[in-house]
Amino acid sequence: MRTPLVAGNWKMHGNRAANRVLLEAVVRETETLGGVECVVCVPFPYLGEVAGQLAKTRLVWGAQNLSEHSHGAFTGEVSATMLAEFNCRYVIVGHSERRQHYGETDAVVAAKYAAVLAQGMKPILCVGETLVQRDAGQTEQVVARQLQVVLDLSGKKSLENAVLAYEPVWAIGSGRTATPEQAQAVHAFLRARVLRETCILYGGSVKPENAAALFAMQDVDGGLIGGASLVAGDFIAIARAAQHKG
Ligand code: PGA
Repeated sequence: MRTPLVAGNWKMHGNRAANRVLLEAVVRETETLGGVECVVCVPFPYLGEVAGQLAKTRLVWGAQNLSEHSHGAFTGEVSATMLAEFNCRYVIVGHSERRQHYGETDAVVAAKYAAVLAQGMKPILCVGETLVQRDAGQTEQVVARQLQVVLDLSGKKSLENAVLAYEPVWAIGSGRTATPEQAQAVHAFLRARVLRETCILYGGSVKPENAAALFAMQDVDGGLIGGASLVAGDFIAIARAAQHKG
């Protein structure tokens, strides 16, 4: 059985006061929310504070990125060991915004995935096609390539400690969600290439209104939530939808 997972990706949002209020509300609800793991992936400067606030709660935290290098002269970068020192549990790697805006190649993403695993944390590996690629019928080819480069470096067995997230680029922050059937089709394609127990999240404009229908799909094991993770009520509603999966 795969435990449903709902991970919030705050992206570059938040401030200390607002984070505290948001997390207080989310923690209050998640304390009694069984059957679903809830995670918040927060910006680097807040990691220590969030770690403190979430200690002894059921809400888990993660990071949104890291360096593929272990240490050294890489100004502005953050290593896996630094994150692990704070007991970080999850790290998003290969988010399409990093691939698009920061030129992260499949090879860099694969190295980051390996760096996360080497420090005993769990990568949330994002894959997904652009609208142009979808319209050209290349969706499967694109996600297969993005996944394969990672598996070539770390091996399929590494997926025992990883999470996969299918995030169609055209659905991210656009208000345009993949239909449950579109999501399921890609998730089933990915399922055939990963382990039966690998958790595969869907991400891209997941909202309280569409979460239940998406999570009802056989191979959709939860969500990677951007905008809606900044609103406590919405994030909790989505987590509840995942809890009731199946
Ligand atoms: P969104 O973002 O929910 O705001 O579309 C999802 C993501 O980028 O992970």
